[in-house]
Amino acid sequence: MSVKELQTVNFRNLVSEKLLLHSDLNFLIGDNGSGKSSLLESLFYLGHGKSFRTTKVESLIQTGFDTFIISAKSDENIQLGIQRNSIGESKIKVNGVSSTKLSDLAKNIAIQIVTPESFKLFFGGPKERRKFVDLGLFHVEHSFSAEWKLFQRIYKQRNACLRNKKTLEQLDYWTEEFCRLSETIALFRKEYIENLKSELVNWLTIMLPNCSNDISIQYLQGWNSKKELAIILKENKYKELEKGYSLYGAQKFDIRFLIDNSSIEHRLSRGQQKLFLLALTFAQTKLIEQVKRIKPILLIDDIGAELDHSSRKAMFKANQLLNCQTIISAIDRLALEPLIPDDNNYNMFHVEHGKIKAMIE
Ligand SMILES: Nc1ncnc2c1ncn2[C@@H]1O[C@H](COP(=O)(O)OP(=O)(O)OP(=O)(O)O)[C@@H](O)[C@H]1O
Ligand SMILES: [Mg+2]
Repeated sequence: MSVKELQTVNFRNLVSEKLLLHSDLNFLIGDNGSGKSSLLESLFYLGHGKSFRTTKVESLIQTGFDTFIISAKSDENIQLGIQRNSIGESKIKVNGVSSTKLSDLAKNIAIQIVTPESFKLFFGGPKERRKFVDLGLFHVEHSFSAEWKLFQRIYKQRNACLRNKKTLEQLDYWTEEFCRLSETIALFRKEYIENLKSELVNWLTIMLPNCSNDISIQYLQGWNSKKELAIILKENKYKELEKGYSLYGAQKFDIRFLIDNSSIEHRLSRGQQKLFLLALTFAQTKLIEQVKRIKPILLIDDIGAELDHSSRKAMFKANQLLNCQTIISAIDRLALEPLIPDDNNYNMFHVEHGKIKAMIE
């Protein structure tokens, strides 16, 4: 799907006007602090019910107001909307019908994003890498979100048991469910990573051809995969009680991307890492499209950072093949140069003090 109309009300610094988007390619240019990331953030919020920059809803609401609204109309005239207020209440609407479930939005829209902060995927802790994989799973594995939410609840309960040295019966009770959910989640992740790997190679061939053959993905499910988690926990019961938290399980998942057996961050330059990250996002986008049968929308914030002319050209080629609605932001037109097609088949917007104006080229 693609979004043809997007409107935000009291979101960040954005002026509340309707934006008419191109079905394929859209560019946003504007100075620092003009509102480019905020616009991409609004669309991301509509797809995920959360921001990629903050967990605090009050940061998203325009100063002086207490509610924001984001709404969009798709190319098939599906109307989606989300409203949040400062005390955390939310309203969701799909075609005018109220819903309480974020999944009702996610059924209709899938948003993928690459930002300069996406580098956290390589340099940040395992939490960021887990989030990347789980975000893909959120779209491709219908029951994943519910299982993960339940797992987190059980994980907290189990940790509380270990910390407070509750009765061993209580610990055993939580451990059983903890193991069951960890095994289910590990299976989902394993399958997803295998699919991601084969798709990734296709995109690397276009964007980083010299590396595409030597890539491997290593992942740790959170415990020794040759053993059952229940047995490991039994063997380590007293160690866990001593530490006061769970030492093994799905919360310990991590993933590493390797080239010739050395990690990406040690092997690739910063620009190459960005291309790798784009290839990874394109691979994830393709997987989501195959499973959900809706085309995701791709957001790329600040494309100029780190990419030279030929890298941007490679990215342009890949983007044409991906064939999804794309919104790309940059500080100025120069940074977009090789990405702008000759056929005028795109929209260009200028962002200034939260106001977004279509530019006639
Ligand atoms: N809740 C809010 N209410 C009003 N203004 C806000 C709010 N949150 C952020 N802003 C302001 O919105 C402006 C736009 O921020 P945004 O991150 O979208 O800029 P940008 O165009 O992406 O800039 P850069 O090129 O530096 O990345 C900033 O000046 C910021 O201070
Ligand atoms: Mg920005």
